[in-house]
Amino acid sequence: MKLILLGPPGAGKGTQAQRLVDKHGIPQLSTGDMLRAAVKAETEVGKRAKAVMDAGELVSDEIVNAIVAERIDQDDCAKGFILDGYPRTLAQADAVADMLAERGLHLDVVIELVVDDKALVGRILKRAEEAKAAGQPVRKDDNAEVFDERLREYYKKTAPLIGYYYANDLLKQVDGMAAIDDVTAQIDAILADTLRN
Ligand code: AP5
Repeated sequence: MKLILLGPPGAGKGTQAQRLVDKHGIPQLSTGDMLRAAVKAETEVGKRAKAVMDAGELVSDEIVNAIVAERIDQDDCAKGFILDGYPRTLAQADAVADMLAERGLHLDVVIELVVDDKALVGRILKRAEEAKAAGQPVRKDDNAEVFDERLREYYKKTAPLIGYYYANDLLKQVDGMAAIDDVTAQIDAILADTLRN
């Protein structure tokens, strides 16, 4: 199964992806996590991405497409994968379609987590507080100012993917305002349906 979790920053993509990993035994491919790892390791990609990420903007299509193309060829992706935070632009959506087609694969479903904008910043600030309280590093982009830019980038560049995948008959929506377990149940129902058809 190859699926995309789509939604604005703080929508719950990572939370739900983790649950799907446990349930379906397929990996979560989070471009955000991969980029943060590159920043931490101070690789060439990390050096190029750092300032852009800290400002809440999107890293170039060229960089993220290359990261994902390399990742999906790894053995643990043979049974499928969950794309979390990728694609994020129409160019990335075209790139992933090409990547999969070149390998004789296709996407099964795109699940959009629909959340009120007003709830998002609260979730992000809460995550930052919790990380701090636990003595863990706080993401540089988890503050109200950078969040505004992340949301702007989402509307400018990522929200058009909703129409793109709707037109491709791949889009399913869940109520991302529901409690975490309820969101999981909605996703489970969609995946059960997808696997049946
Ligand atoms: P990335 O790491 O992908 O961040 P994001 O999309 O902004 O998403 P978040 O991780 O903040 O939120 P989420 O939707 O995963 O929610 P989560 O489950 O964590 O990207 C970071 C940066 O990397 C980008 O800004 C960009 O610079 C770069 N980047 C990454 N991918 C890129 C790409 N493809 N192209 C270009 N650049 C890219 O939940 C958030 C909080 O809410 C948690 O505390 C959680 O517990 C809570 N929560 C979750 N669900 C619920 C619920 N139902 N009710 C209440 N609280 C909930």
